[in-house]
Amino acid sequence: MSLSRRRFLGVVGAGALAAGITGWGGAGSGQTAELLRSRIPLPPKFAVPLPIPPEKRPTRSDARADHYDIVQRVREVEIVPGYRTPIFGYDGMFPGPTIRSRSGRTAVVTHRNELPVPTVVHLHGGHTPARHDGYPVDLLYPTGWDDVGHEHAGTVAGTRRGSREYVYPLEQPAATLWYHDHRMDFTAPQVWRGLAGFHLIDDDVTDALPLPHGERDIPLLICDRAFAEDGSFRYPALDPSLRDTPGVRDDYMEGVAGDVILVNGAPWPELEVDAARYRLRILNASNARRYRLALNPEGEFVQVGSDAGLLAAPVPHDRLDIAPAERFEVVVDFAQYPVGTRVVLRNELGGGATSDVMRFVVARKAADDSAVPRSLAEVAPLPRTSASVRREWRFHRGKVHGRRGWTINGKPFHPARMDARPRLGEVEVWRLFTDLHHPVHIHLSPFQVIGRNGRGPGPFDAGWKDTVDVRPAEYVDVALRFEDYPGTFLMHCHNLEHEDMAMMAAFETT
Ligand code: C2O
Ligand code: CU
Ligand code: CU
Repeated sequence: MSLSRRRFLGVVGAGALAAGITGWGGAGSGQTAELLRSRIPLPPKFAVPLPIPPEKRPTRSDARADHYDIVQRVREVEIVPGYRTPIFGYDGMFPGPTIRSRSGRTAVVTHRNELPVPTVVHLHGGHTPARHDGYPVDLLYPTGWDDVGHEHAGTVAGTRRGSREYVYPLEQPAATLWYHDHRMDFTAPQVWRGLAGFHLIDDDVTDALPLPHGERDIPLLICDRAFAEDGSFRYPALDPSLRDTPGVRDDYMEGVAGDVILVNGAPWPELEVDAARYRLRILNASNARRYRLALNPEGEFVQVGSDAGLLAAPVPHDRLDIAPAERFEVVVDFAQYPVGTRVVLRNELGGGATSDVMRFVVARKAADDSAVPRSLAEVAPLPRTSASVRREWRFHRGKVHGRRGWTINGKPFHPARMDARPRLGEVEVWRLFTDLHHPVHIHLSPFQVIGRNGRGPGPFDAGWKDTVDVRPAEYVDVALRFEDYPGTFLMHCHNLEHEDMAMMAAFETT
Protein backbone atom coordinates (compact mmCIF):
# COMPACT_ATOMS: atom_id res chain seq x y z
CA MET A 1 0.00 0.00 0.00
CA SER A 2 1.30 3.41 -0.82
CA LEU A 3 2.15 5.89 1.87
CA SER A 4 -0.35 8.38 0.59
CA ARG A 5 -3.17 5.90 0.86
CA ARG A 6 -2.14 4.97 4.35
CA ARG A 7 -2.28 8.58 5.33
CA PHE A 8 -5.57 8.98 3.53
CA LEU A 9 -7.06 6.11 5.50
CA GLY A 10 -5.78 7.54 8.72
CA VAL A 11 -7.31 10.92 8.13
CA VAL A 12 -10.55 10.21 6.39
CA GLY A 13 -11.51 6.99 8.13
CA ALA A 14 -14.01 4.34 7.29
CA GLY A 15 -16.93 6.48 6.21
CA ALA A 16 -15.18 7.39 3.00
CA LEU A 17 -14.51 3.74 2.26
CA ALA A 18 -18.21 3.00 2.32
CA ALA A 19 -18.67 5.82 -0.15
CA GLY A 20 -16.87 3.70 -2.72
CA ILE A 21 -13.14 3.39 -3.10
CA THR A 22 -12.44 1.00 -5.92
CA GLY A 23 -9.33 -0.71 -7.14
CA TRP A 24 -8.36 -1.49 -3.59
CA GLY A 25 -4.73 -2.57 -3.50
CA GLY A 26 -4.95 -3.84 -7.06
CA ALA A 27 -7.00 -6.84 -5.95
CA GLY A 28 -10.06 -5.39 -7.65
CA SER A 29 -12.92 -3.40 -6.24
CA GLY A 30 -14.96 -4.47 -3.24
CA GLN A 31 -11.92 -5.97 -1.52
CA THR A 32 -10.09 -5.53 1.73
CA ALA A 33 -6.94 -7.22 0.47
CA GLU A 34 -3.68 -6.54 -1.32
CA LEU A 35 -2.83 -8.27 -4.58
CA LEU A 36 0.23 -10.51 -4.55
CA ARG A 37 1.40 -11.25 -8.07
CA SER A 38 2.80 -14.53 -9.35
CA ARG A 39 6.37 -14.66 -10.65
CA ILE A 40 5.58 -17.24 -13.28
CA PRO A 41 3.51 -16.64 -16.40
CA LEU A 42 -0.14 -17.12 -15.51
CA PRO A 43 -1.44 -20.49 -16.69
CA PRO A 44 -3.92 -20.52 -19.61
CA LYS A 45 -7.59 -20.37 -18.75
CA PHE A 46 -10.04 -23.24 -19.20
CA ALA A 47 -7.23 -25.64 -20.13
CA VAL A 48 -7.58 -28.21 -17.37
CA PRO A 49 -10.63 -30.23 -16.33
CA LEU A 50 -12.30 -29.44 -13.01
CA PRO A 51 -11.04 -31.95 -10.44
CA ILE A 52 -13.55 -33.34 -7.96
CA PRO A 53 -11.91 -34.15 -4.61
CA PRO A 54 -12.25 -37.88 -3.91
CA GLU A 55 -14.69 -38.98 -1.22
CA LYS A 56 -12.96 -40.42 1.80
CA ARG A 57 -13.87 -44.01 2.68
CA PRO A 58 -14.33 -44.78 6.38
CA THR A 59 -11.71 -47.17 7.78
CA ARG A 60 -14.52 -48.69 9.80
CA SER A 61 -18.15 -48.06 10.68
CA ASP A 62 -20.23 -49.21 13.59
CA ALA A 63 -23.85 -48.66 14.61
CA ARG A 64 -23.37 -44.98 15.43
CA ALA A 65 -20.13 -43.76 13.94
CA ASP A 66 -17.91 -43.73 10.89
CA HIS A 67 -14.16 -43.60 11.47
CA TYR A 68 -11.74 -41.89 9.14
CA ASP A 69 -7.94 -41.60 9.11
CA ILE A 70 -6.32 -38.56 7.54
CA VAL A 71 -2.59 -37.95 7.26
CA GLN A 72 -1.45 -34.32 6.99
CA ARG A 73 1.67 -34.22 4.90
CA VAL A 74 3.81 -32.31 2.46
CA ARG A 75 3.52 -33.34 -1.14
CA GLU A 76 4.50 -31.88 -4.48
CA VAL A 77 1.59 -31.52 -6.85
CA GLU A 78 1.15 -30.05 -10.31
CA ILE A 79 -1.27 -27.14 -10.02
CA VAL A 80 0.09 -24.97 -12.82
CA PRO A 81 0.94 -27.21 -15.79
CA GLY A 82 4.70 -27.70 -15.94
CA TYR A 83 5.42 -26.63 -12.33
CA ARG A 84 5.71 -28.55 -9.07
CA THR A 85 4.11 -26.95 -6.03
CA PRO A 86 4.83 -28.27 -2.54
CA ILE A 87 1.62 -28.24 -0.52
CA PHE A 88 0.50 -29.02 2.99
CA GLY A 89 -2.31 -31.46 2.26
CA TYR A 90 -4.84 -33.55 4.10
CA ASP A 91 -3.83 -36.95 2.74
CA GLY A 92 -1.33 -34.97 0.68
CA MET A 93 -4.13 -33.42 -1.42
CA PHE A 94 -5.37 -29.91 -2.05
CA PRO A 95 -8.28 -29.70 -1.48
CA GLY A 96 -8.30 -32.54 1.03
CA PRO A 97 -10.56 -35.55 0.53
CA THR A 98 -14.29 -34.90 0.92
CA ILE A 99 -15.87 -36.50 3.94
CA ARG A 100 -19.54 -37.27 3.44
CA SER A 101 -21.58 -37.95 6.57
CA ARG A 102 -25.19 -38.52 7.53
CA SER A 103 -26.80 -36.13 9.94
CA GLY A 104 -26.79 -37.63 13.44
CA ARG A 105 -24.09 -40.21 12.67
CA THR A 106 -20.86 -39.41 14.47
CA ALA A 107 -17.76 -38.92 12.37
CA VAL A 108 -14.54 -39.78 14.20
CA VAL A 109 -11.65 -38.35 12.23
CA THR A 110 -8.14 -39.30 13.31
CA HIS A 111 -5.62 -36.82 12.01
CA ARG A 112 -1.94 -37.71 11.92
CA ASN A 113 0.41 -34.74 11.62
CA GLU A 114 3.43 -35.51 9.46
CA LEU A 115 3.95 -31.85 8.54
CA PRO A 116 6.91 -29.83 9.80
CA VAL A 117 4.56 -27.59 11.85
CA PRO A 118 1.88 -27.92 14.54
CA THR A 119 -1.69 -27.91 13.27
CA VAL A 120 -5.24 -27.57 14.55
CA VAL A 121 -8.22 -28.99 12.64
CA HIS A 122 -11.50 -27.11 12.70
CA LEU A 123 -14.72 -28.37 11.14
CA HIS A 124 -16.20 -25.08 9.92
CA GLY A 125 -19.97 -25.13 10.38
CA GLY A 126 -19.84 -28.18 12.63
CA HIS A 127 -21.98 -28.23 15.77
CA THR A 128 -19.11 -29.64 17.77
CA PRO A 129 -18.17 -29.98 21.47
CA ALA A 130 -15.41 -27.58 22.51
CA ARG A 131 -12.65 -30.18 22.91
CA HIS A 132 -13.05 -31.23 19.29
CA ASP A 133 -13.74 -27.81 17.78
CA GLY A 134 -10.12 -26.95 17.07
CA TYR A 135 -9.35 -24.19 19.54
CA PRO A 136 -6.35 -22.31 18.08
CA VAL A 137 -3.92 -23.37 20.81
CA ASP A 138 -5.18 -26.97 21.02
CA LEU A 139 -2.24 -28.00 18.90
CA LEU A 140 -1.36 -31.30 17.33
CA TYR A 141 2.42 -31.39 17.08
CA PRO A 142 4.35 -33.42 14.57
CA THR A 143 6.25 -36.30 16.16
CA GLY A 144 9.62 -34.59 15.95
CA TRP A 145 8.63 -31.17 17.32
CA ASP A 146 10.99 -30.15 20.12
CA ASP A 147 9.14 -27.68 22.34
CA VAL A 148 5.68 -29.15 22.82
CA GLY A 149 3.35 -26.93 24.83
CA HIS A 150 5.90 -24.15 24.98
CA GLU A 151 4.33 -21.66 22.64
CA HIS A 152 1.22 -20.81 24.57
CA ALA A 153 2.19 -21.49 28.17
CA GLY A 154 -0.50 -20.57 30.66
CA THR A 155 -3.35 -21.21 28.24
CA VAL A 156 -5.31 -24.29 27.28
CA ALA A 157 -2.59 -25.28 24.85
CA GLY A 158 -2.75 -28.85 23.58
CA THR A 159 0.29 -31.03 23.88
CA ARG A 160 -0.54 -33.96 21.68
CA ARG A 161 2.05 -35.34 19.33
CA GLY A 162 1.61 -37.48 16.25
CA SER A 163 -2.10 -38.11 15.97
CA ARG A 164 -5.40 -37.38 17.64
CA GLU A 165 -9.09 -38.01 17.17
CA TYR A 166 -11.63 -35.34 16.42
CA VAL A 167 -15.16 -36.49 17.27
CA TYR A 168 -18.02 -34.81 15.39
CA PRO A 169 -21.54 -35.76 16.55
CA LEU A 170 -23.07 -33.97 13.51
CA GLU A 171 -26.45 -33.47 15.17
CA GLN A 172 -27.35 -30.90 12.54
CA PRO A 173 -29.16 -30.77 9.21
CA ALA A 174 -27.71 -31.44 5.77
CA ALA A 175 -25.19 -28.75 4.82
CA THR A 176 -21.92 -28.00 3.06
CA LEU A 177 -19.24 -27.78 5.75
CA TRP A 178 -15.51 -27.57 5.31
CA TYR A 179 -12.53 -28.41 7.44
CA HIS A 180 -9.38 -26.35 7.57
CA ASP A 181 -6.39 -25.49 9.71
CA HIS A 182 -6.92 -23.13 12.66
CA ARG A 183 -3.47 -22.86 14.27
CA MET A 184 -3.07 -19.66 16.28
CA ASP A 185 -1.17 -16.97 14.34
CA PHE A 186 -0.57 -19.34 11.39
CA THR A 187 -4.00 -20.14 9.94
CA ALA A 188 -3.49 -17.94 6.88
CA PRO A 189 -0.18 -19.45 5.67
CA GLN A 190 -1.26 -23.02 6.53
CA VAL A 191 -4.54 -22.76 4.64
CA TRP A 192 -2.70 -21.00 1.78
CA ARG A 193 -0.37 -24.01 1.69
CA GLY A 194 -3.40 -26.25 1.17
CA LEU A 195 -5.04 -27.34 4.43
CA ALA A 196 -8.73 -27.20 3.47
CA GLY A 197 -11.37 -29.70 2.34
CA PHE A 198 -15.11 -30.35 2.21
CA HIS A 199 -17.20 -32.17 4.79
CA LEU A 200 -20.73 -32.65 3.47
CA ILE A 201 -23.69 -33.71 5.57
CA ASP A 202 -26.72 -35.45 4.07
CA ASP A 203 -30.08 -36.06 5.71
CA ASP A 204 -33.39 -37.74 4.87
CA VAL A 205 -35.34 -34.49 4.39
CA THR A 206 -32.91 -33.33 1.74
CA ASP A 207 -32.66 -36.74 0.09
CA ALA A 208 -36.43 -36.72 -0.35
CA LEU A 209 -36.27 -33.50 -2.41
CA PRO A 210 -35.91 -33.73 -6.20
CA LEU A 211 -32.77 -31.54 -6.27
CA PRO A 212 -29.99 -32.55 -8.68
CA HIS A 213 -27.77 -35.22 -7.11
CA GLY A 214 -24.99 -37.68 -7.83
CA GLU A 215 -22.91 -36.56 -10.82
CA ARG A 216 -24.92 -33.35 -10.89
CA ASP A 217 -24.07 -32.33 -7.33
CA ILE A 218 -20.72 -30.57 -7.57
CA PRO A 219 -18.65 -29.01 -4.78
CA LEU A 220 -16.66 -25.96 -5.91
CA LEU A 221 -13.90 -24.79 -3.58
CA ILE A 222 -12.85 -21.41 -4.94
CA CYS A 223 -9.64 -19.74 -3.80
CA ASP A 224 -6.83 -17.59 -5.10
CA ARG A 225 -3.09 -18.14 -4.90
CA ALA A 226 0.15 -16.64 -6.19
CA PHE A 227 3.16 -18.62 -7.36
CA ALA A 228 6.90 -18.04 -6.99
CA GLU A 229 9.49 -18.52 -9.78
CA ASP A 230 9.96 -22.19 -8.89
CA GLY A 231 6.22 -22.94 -8.87
CA SER A 232 5.90 -22.98 -5.09
CA PHE A 233 3.17 -20.91 -3.47
CA ARG A 234 4.12 -17.31 -3.00
CA TYR A 235 2.97 -15.64 0.23
CA PRO A 236 4.42 -12.73 2.22
CA ALA A 237 5.35 -14.84 5.24
CA LEU A 238 6.40 -18.22 3.86
CA ASP A 239 9.78 -19.58 4.80
CA PRO A 240 11.69 -22.18 2.79
CA SER A 241 12.10 -24.24 5.97
CA LEU A 242 8.29 -24.51 5.82
CA ARG A 243 8.17 -23.07 9.35
CA ASP A 244 6.53 -19.81 8.43
CA THR A 245 6.50 -16.60 10.35
CA PRO A 246 3.29 -15.54 12.08
CA GLY A 247 1.14 -12.92 10.42
CA VAL A 248 1.88 -10.67 7.49
CA ARG A 249 2.90 -7.17 8.31
CA ASP A 250 2.34 -3.74 6.94
CA ASP A 251 1.64 -3.86 3.24
CA TYR A 252 -0.35 -7.09 3.39
CA MET A 253 -2.20 -6.54 6.60
CA GLU A 254 -5.49 -5.94 4.71
CA GLY A 255 -5.26 -9.54 3.54
CA VAL A 256 -3.53 -11.46 0.79
CA ALA A 257 -5.15 -11.95 -2.61
CA GLY A 258 -3.47 -14.01 -5.34
CA ASP A 259 -3.66 -13.53 -9.09
CA VAL A 260 -4.52 -17.14 -9.99
CA ILE A 261 -8.04 -18.41 -9.32
CA LEU A 262 -8.23 -22.09 -8.40
CA VAL A 263 -11.36 -24.20 -8.29
CA ASN A 264 -10.89 -27.49 -6.45
CA GLY A 265 -7.18 -26.81 -6.70
CA ALA A 266 -7.00 -26.28 -10.48
CA PRO A 267 -6.42 -22.96 -12.25
CA TRP A 268 -9.50 -21.65 -14.10
CA PRO A 269 -10.73 -25.19 -14.86
CA GLU A 270 -13.43 -26.34 -17.23
CA LEU A 271 -16.33 -28.71 -16.60
CA GLU A 272 -18.39 -30.43 -19.28
CA VAL A 273 -22.02 -30.50 -18.27
CA ASP A 274 -25.27 -31.93 -19.57
CA ALA A 275 -27.97 -29.49 -20.60
CA ALA A 276 -29.62 -30.09 -17.24
CA ARG A 277 -29.87 -28.78 -13.71
CA TYR A 278 -26.80 -28.94 -11.48
CA ARG A 279 -26.49 -28.34 -7.77
CA LEU A 280 -23.30 -26.35 -7.16
CA ARG A 281 -21.97 -26.14 -3.61
CA ILE A 282 -19.91 -22.99 -3.77
CA LEU A 283 -17.36 -22.35 -1.03
CA ASN A 284 -15.13 -19.30 -0.92
CA ALA A 285 -12.00 -20.78 0.67
CA SER A 286 -9.85 -17.74 -0.13
CA ASN A 287 -7.87 -16.08 2.62
CA ALA A 288 -9.21 -12.60 1.91
CA ARG A 289 -10.74 -12.31 -1.57
CA ARG A 290 -14.43 -11.63 -2.07
CA TYR A 291 -16.16 -12.59 -5.31
CA ARG A 292 -19.23 -11.43 -7.18
CA LEU A 293 -20.11 -14.45 -9.27
CA ALA A 294 -22.10 -14.17 -12.48
CA LEU A 295 -22.67 -16.37 -15.51
CA ASN A 296 -21.69 -15.30 -19.00
CA PRO A 297 -23.85 -15.65 -21.10
CA GLU A 298 -26.17 -14.34 -18.40
CA GLY A 299 -28.00 -16.96 -16.39
CA GLU A 300 -29.64 -17.52 -13.08
CA PHE A 301 -28.39 -19.05 -9.85
CA VAL A 302 -31.26 -20.42 -7.79
CA GLN A 303 -30.00 -20.47 -4.25
CA VAL A 304 -31.25 -23.45 -2.25
CA GLY A 305 -28.81 -23.48 0.65
CA SER A 306 -26.71 -21.20 2.81
CA ASP A 307 -23.78 -21.93 5.13
CA ALA A 308 -25.64 -24.16 7.55
CA GLY A 309 -28.32 -25.86 5.48
CA LEU A 310 -31.24 -25.54 3.10
CA LEU A 311 -33.22 -22.33 2.81
CA ALA A 312 -36.95 -22.27 3.54
CA ALA A 313 -37.57 -21.46 -0.13
CA PRO A 314 -35.35 -20.94 -3.17
CA VAL A 315 -33.96 -17.44 -3.83
CA PRO A 316 -33.03 -16.53 -7.44
CA HIS A 317 -29.93 -14.38 -8.02
CA ASP A 318 -28.27 -13.06 -11.14
CA ARG A 319 -25.18 -12.18 -9.07
CA LEU A 320 -23.79 -13.89 -6.01
CA ASP A 321 -21.57 -12.02 -3.56
CA ILE A 322 -19.49 -14.45 -1.55
CA ALA A 323 -17.03 -13.56 1.19
CA PRO A 324 -14.36 -15.85 2.64
CA ALA A 325 -15.77 -18.99 4.33
CA GLU A 326 -19.34 -18.47 3.10
CA ARG A 327 -21.15 -21.24 1.24
CA PHE A 328 -23.95 -20.91 -1.26
CA GLU A 329 -25.72 -23.94 -2.66
CA VAL A 330 -27.25 -23.02 -5.97
CA VAL A 331 -29.01 -24.79 -8.81
CA VAL A 332 -28.02 -23.75 -12.32
CA ASP A 333 -30.07 -25.06 -15.22
CA PHE A 334 -27.71 -25.48 -18.16
CA ALA A 335 -30.71 -26.37 -20.35
CA GLN A 336 -31.22 -22.60 -20.61
CA TYR A 337 -28.24 -22.59 -23.04
CA PRO A 338 -27.98 -24.26 -26.48
CA VAL A 339 -25.71 -27.33 -26.60
CA GLY A 340 -22.18 -26.18 -27.36
CA THR A 341 -22.40 -22.99 -25.28
CA ARG A 342 -19.39 -22.15 -23.19
CA VAL A 343 -20.60 -20.57 -19.97
CA VAL A 344 -17.99 -18.66 -18.01
CA LEU A 345 -18.35 -18.26 -14.27
CA ARG A 346 -17.23 -14.66 -13.91
CA ASN A 347 -16.00 -12.71 -10.91
CA GLU A 348 -17.20 -9.15 -11.28
CA LEU A 349 -15.08 -7.98 -8.35
CA GLY A 350 -11.92 -9.23 -10.04
CA GLY A 351 -9.60 -7.41 -12.36
CA GLY A 352 -7.66 -8.85 -15.29
CA ALA A 353 -7.29 -12.60 -15.00
CA THR A 354 -9.14 -12.78 -11.69
CA SER A 355 -12.35 -11.65 -13.35
CA ASP A 356 -12.83 -15.25 -14.52
CA VAL A 357 -13.28 -18.26 -12.23
CA MET A 358 -14.01 -21.30 -14.40
CA ARG A 359 -15.97 -22.40 -17.46
CA PHE A 360 -18.79 -24.83 -18.10
CA VAL A 361 -19.26 -26.37 -21.53
CA VAL A 362 -22.79 -27.52 -22.27
CA ALA A 363 -21.85 -30.76 -23.97
CA ARG A 364 -25.04 -32.63 -24.69
CA LYS A 365 -28.79 -32.87 -24.27
CA ALA A 366 -29.82 -35.14 -21.43
CA ALA A 367 -32.83 -36.30 -19.46
CA ASP A 368 -33.42 -34.36 -16.26
CA ASP A 369 -35.95 -35.39 -13.64
CA SER A 370 -34.68 -32.93 -11.04
CA ALA A 371 -36.62 -29.90 -9.86
CA VAL A 372 -36.31 -27.06 -7.41
CA PRO A 373 -39.30 -27.34 -5.08
CA ARG A 374 -41.04 -24.17 -3.92
CA SER A 375 -40.47 -25.11 -0.34
CA LEU A 376 -37.24 -26.70 0.83
CA ALA A 377 -36.88 -26.91 4.59
CA GLU A 378 -38.31 -25.50 7.74
CA VAL A 379 -36.39 -22.44 8.89
CA ALA A 380 -38.21 -20.98 11.91
CA PRO A 381 -37.13 -17.48 12.90
CA LEU A 382 -35.34 -17.48 16.25
CA PRO A 383 -37.78 -16.11 18.86
CA ARG A 384 -36.19 -13.00 20.32
CA THR A 385 -37.75 -10.65 22.85
CA SER A 386 -36.91 -7.28 24.37
CA ALA A 387 -35.36 -9.27 27.22
CA SER A 388 -32.90 -11.08 24.90
CA VAL A 389 -29.24 -10.47 25.74
CA ARG A 390 -27.64 -8.00 23.32
CA ARG A 391 -23.93 -7.73 22.67
CA GLU A 392 -21.88 -5.41 20.46
CA TRP A 393 -18.72 -6.40 18.68
CA ARG A 394 -16.57 -3.82 16.89
CA PHE A 395 -14.20 -5.14 14.23
CA HIS A 396 -11.49 -2.55 13.76
CA ARG A 397 -7.89 -1.96 12.95
CA GLY A 398 -5.92 -1.58 16.17
CA LYS A 399 -2.73 -2.12 18.08
CA VAL A 400 -1.65 -5.69 18.71
CA HIS A 401 1.33 -6.00 21.05
CA GLY A 402 2.61 -2.63 19.94
CA ARG A 403 2.24 -3.28 16.21
CA ARG A 404 -0.50 -2.64 13.69
CA GLY A 405 -3.08 -5.38 13.69
CA TRP A 406 -6.78 -6.12 13.98
CA THR A 407 -8.93 -6.09 17.07
CA ILE A 408 -12.45 -6.81 18.32
CA ASN A 409 -13.80 -4.24 20.77
CA GLY A 410 -10.31 -2.77 20.84
CA LYS A 411 -8.68 -5.97 22.08
CA PRO A 412 -6.42 -8.45 20.36
CA PHE A 413 -7.24 -12.14 20.83
CA HIS A 414 -6.03 -13.82 23.98
CA PRO A 415 -6.89 -17.51 24.22
CA ALA A 416 -7.45 -17.39 27.98
CA ARG A 417 -9.70 -14.31 28.06
CA MET A 418 -13.46 -14.88 27.70
CA ASP A 419 -15.23 -11.91 26.12
CA ALA A 420 -18.76 -13.23 26.65
CA ARG A 421 -20.54 -15.97 28.61
CA PRO A 422 -23.71 -16.78 26.66
CA ARG A 423 -26.16 -19.21 28.25
CA LEU A 424 -26.97 -22.32 26.28
CA GLY A 425 -30.51 -22.38 24.90
CA GLU A 426 -31.11 -18.63 25.10
CA VAL A 427 -31.58 -16.40 22.08
CA GLU A 428 -29.17 -13.45 21.91
CA VAL A 429 -28.85 -10.58 19.46
CA TRP A 430 -25.35 -9.59 18.40
CA ARG A 431 -24.50 -6.40 16.54
CA LEU A 432 -21.33 -6.59 14.45
CA PHE A 433 -19.73 -3.24 13.49
CA THR A 434 -16.87 -2.86 11.03
CA ASP A 435 -14.39 -0.39 9.61
CA LEU A 436 -13.48 -2.33 6.44
CA HIS A 437 -14.75 -5.66 5.01
CA HIS A 438 -14.79 -8.29 7.72
CA PRO A 439 -16.44 -11.67 7.09
CA VAL A 440 -17.48 -12.52 10.64
CA HIS A 441 -17.71 -16.17 11.65
CA ILE A 442 -19.16 -17.60 14.86
CA HIS A 443 -18.44 -21.14 16.03
CA LEU A 444 -20.79 -23.72 17.64
CA SER A 445 -24.25 -22.67 16.42
CA PRO A 446 -25.52 -20.93 13.30
CA PHE A 447 -27.32 -17.59 13.30
CA GLN A 448 -29.93 -15.65 11.35
CA VAL A 449 -29.27 -12.21 9.92
CA ILE A 450 -31.91 -9.79 11.18
CA GLY A 451 -30.75 -6.68 9.37
CA ARG A 452 -28.02 -4.39 8.11
CA ASN A 453 -27.61 -0.78 9.19
CA GLY A 454 -31.02 -0.83 10.82
CA ARG A 455 -32.76 -2.03 7.66
CA GLY A 456 -33.71 -5.55 6.60
CA PRO A 457 -31.30 -8.34 5.67
CA GLY A 458 -29.43 -8.18 2.36
CA PRO A 459 -30.06 -10.40 -0.68
CA PHE A 460 -27.40 -12.95 0.38
CA ASP A 461 -28.43 -13.26 4.02
CA ALA A 462 -31.20 -15.87 3.83
CA GLY A 463 -31.27 -18.99 5.96
CA TRP A 464 -28.95 -20.25 8.65
CA LYS A 465 -25.53 -18.68 8.40
CA ASP A 466 -22.25 -19.17 10.24
CA THR A 467 -20.34 -16.43 8.43
CA VAL A 468 -21.67 -13.03 7.44
CA ASP A 469 -20.06 -10.57 5.05
CA VAL A 470 -19.98 -7.28 6.95
CA ARG A 471 -19.06 -4.46 4.57
CA PRO A 472 -17.13 -1.27 5.30
CA ALA A 473 -18.68 0.95 7.96
CA GLU A 474 -21.67 -1.33 8.27
CA TYR A 475 -23.38 -3.00 11.18
CA VAL A 476 -25.17 -6.29 10.96
CA ASP A 477 -27.58 -7.66 13.56
CA VAL A 478 -27.75 -11.42 13.97
CA ALA A 479 -29.92 -13.59 16.21
CA LEU A 480 -28.32 -16.70 17.61
CA ARG A 481 -28.88 -19.45 20.11
CA PHE A 482 -25.99 -21.56 21.28
CA GLU A 483 -27.01 -25.09 22.05
CA ASP A 484 -25.86 -28.31 23.67
CA TYR A 485 -22.18 -27.85 24.40
CA PRO A 486 -20.72 -25.87 27.31
CA GLY A 487 -17.15 -24.70 26.82
CA THR A 488 -14.85 -22.29 25.06
CA PHE A 489 -15.55 -21.28 21.47
CA LEU A 490 -14.49 -18.58 19.03
CA MET A 491 -15.85 -15.81 16.95
CA HIS A 492 -13.54 -14.10 14.51
CA CYS A 493 -12.96 -12.42 11.23
CA HIS A 494 -12.51 -15.03 8.50
CA ASN A 495 -10.20 -12.85 6.51
CA LEU A 496 -7.38 -15.18 7.53
CA GLU A 497 -4.74 -12.47 7.69
CA HIS A 498 -6.98 -10.47 10.03
CA GLU A 499 -7.61 -13.62 12.07
CA ASP A 500 -3.88 -14.28 12.47
CA MET A 501 -3.34 -10.65 13.38
CA ALA A 502 -5.58 -11.14 16.41
CA MET A 503 -9.11 -10.39 15.17
CA MET A 504 -10.66 -13.17 17.24
CA ALA A 505 -12.57 -13.34 20.50
CA ALA A 506 -13.29 -16.28 22.77
CA PHE A 507 -16.59 -16.86 24.54
CA GLU A 508 -17.64 -19.48 27.01
CA THR A 509 -21.07 -21.10 26.84
CA THR A 510 -22.53 -22.14 30.18
CU1 C2O B 1 -13.49 -21.47 9.29
CU2 C2O B 1 -12.92 -20.42 13.16
O1 C2O B 1 -13.13 -20.95 11.17
CU1 CU C 1 -15.84 -22.37 12.24
CU1 CU D 1 -11.38 -8.76 9.06
